[in-house]
Amino acid sequence: MTRRRLLVLTALGACLLVVVGAVAGARRAPAGGRADRALAPAGARAGAGGAGGAQAGSRGLGDPYFPDAGNGGYDVRHYDLDLRWDPGSGRMTGRATITARATQALSSFTLDLVGMRIDRVTVDGDRAPARREGDRDVRITPRRPLARGARFTVVVAYAGGQNRVGAVSPVEPGWFADDTGDVYTVFEPIGAATLFPSNDHPSDKASYRFRVTAPAALVAVTNGRLVRTTTDDGMRTWEYDEPDPMASYLVQVAIGNLDVVRGRGPDGLPLRDVIDEDAGRRPAALARVGDMIDFYDGEFGRFPFGTYGGLVVDDNLGFALETQTLTLFGEDAADQPTVVAHELAHQWFGDDVSLGSWRDIWLNEGFATFASWLWESHDRGVPVADNAALAARSSGNGVPPGDPGPEHLFAGSVYDRGALTLYVLRHAIGDDDFTTLLRTWVRRYGGRSATTADFEALAEEVSGQDLGPLFDAWLRSDEMPRLSDWVGGDDPAVR
Ligand code: ARG
Ligand code: ZN
Repeated sequence: MTRRRLLVLTALGACLLVVVGAVAGARRAPAGGRADRALAPAGARAGAGGAGGAQAGSRGLGDPYFPDAGNGGYDVRHYDLDLRWDPGSGRMTGRATITARATQALSSFTLDLVGMRIDRVTVDGDRAPARREGDRDVRITPRRPLARGARFTVVVAYAGGQNRVGAVSPVEPGWFADDTGDVYTVFEPIGAATLFPSNDHPSDKASYRFRVTAPAALVAVTNGRLVRTTTDDGMRTWEYDEPDPMASYLVQVAIGNLDVVRGRGPDGLPLRDVIDEDAGRRPAALARVGDMIDFYDGEFGRFPFGTYGGLVVDDNLGFALETQTLTLFGEDAADQPTVVAHELAHQWFGDDVSLGSWRDIWLNEGFATFASWLWESHDRGVPVADNAALAARSSGNGVPPGDPGPEHLFAGSVYDRGALTLYVLRHAIGDDDFTTLLRTWVRRYGGRSATTADFEALAEEVSGQDLGPLFDAWLRSDEMPRLSDWVGGDDPAVR
C-alpha cells in the first residue's frame, strides 16, 4: 500500500475498512490451518477406510524449496530415539521407534535417512523390507498395507558416522563430532535425517523421547527435561523427554565434557545452560534469559515449553540455532545479548508456531529479529525505530523475504526486511491490534505449523484492513520498498 492509499483509507474511516476487510477475506481464503494438508501431494488419496486401493506414499512433501524433504501419506506422532555413541570409532548406533498415523491407505512409505546403514526394520512388530530410494529416502513395505487412519509403529535399527546434507546454508546441516569425541547437531533445514529416520519437514511435528548412551565420563544432553540416568559397565544412559510437538530440525543432541548450570525462570520455569568445558565460563548474556522470558511472556504469551537454556559449544560457528528448549550457540555468539534475545524469541516463532514450508522462513527470522528489537528497546531503551532505520539501510533488494529461494534462506534480507515488514505492519494496524495479532498467532497456531498466507489472513482478520498491498510490497516484490513510503515522513525511523 502506498502512503497515499493509506491516507485515503484512513480518511474513509472505519465503516469502509470493515467492508474492505470482508472483501479481502474473500479474496484470500485462509490456507486451512495445518500445512501438512497444504503440502499433501496430489494423488496421495486412497479409498477411505480399509487398505483397499492402497498406494505407495510419496517420497517428498512437495516443499517448494526442498521437494524431497519429508514424506507423504502419514503423520508422525512420536519419536523414541535410542542412540549409542562410540567416540573411539566415531559411530552412532541407533534404534528409532516411530509412532505414526496413516493419512492415506499405504502399500509402502518412505522415511528420510541419510547415509546410515540399516540393519533391521519392523512395522507393527513384523519384519519389513527396506530399500534405499535416492540419497535421502528409505522405502519400507509393511507386510500388509496400512489402512487410512491406522496407527502404526516402525522400528528402525541402524548405525553410521557423521554425514552432511548438501543443502544451502552457512553450514551444511548434519551432526558434528570432533576428534575429542564432542557431538552436537545443526539440522536446519533438512539435516535431521543424518541422525535418525524421520519425516524431516517442519509441517510434521511430534513429541520425542531420547535415550543417549555414551562413556560414563561424558555428559549427554538433548531437548526437553532429564528423566533419569543409568550407568552400566562404564557406559551411562541419559534419558530425556520432550512432550511438546517439535519439528525434526530443532532436535539437539550434544555429548561431551559439558557443565550443566541449573536455575529458575519466571513462574519457576526450570532453566538449564550447558557449557562445553573448553568454551570457558558461562557467558553473562545467558544470565539475562530469565528477564527476557519475563518480557516476552508479556508480549507474546507465556513461554511455550517446559524448560529453556543455551548450549555453548567449543567452536566459533558464527551463528546460533534455536533448537527447541536448548538453543545451540557457537562460542562466539553466546555472549551477544541481541543474539540471545533473538534465539529465545524463536521458541515462540519457529519452535512453537512452526513453518508450513521453508518458503515461509521469514515467519522465523523476521519475527525473531523484530522481537530482539523489542527487547533492546525494553532493556536498554534503544528505540525500535533505530533498529528499523538501520535495517532499512541494509540492502533487501533481490531477495524478497517471502520467497528468498533455498540458497538465500538465511540471507540478511530475510532477517532485516522480514523484521521491517512487521515494523510497517505495526504502523499500519496500530500497536494494540499488532500486539493482539502476535498473541493470537501464537495461541492459534502454537504446537502446529502455519504459513505466510495464514499470517496475512490473521492480520486482516484482527485489523479488518486490506493488507495485501503491504505484504506484496514487503514480502514479495524484488525491490525493497522505501520505509518512508510506508510509515510517513514523521516516523522516527525515517526522520
Ligand atoms: N535459525 C538460525 C538463526 O537463528 C540460523 C541458522 C543458520 N545456519 C544454519 N546452519 N541453519 O538465525
Ligand atoms: Zn533466527
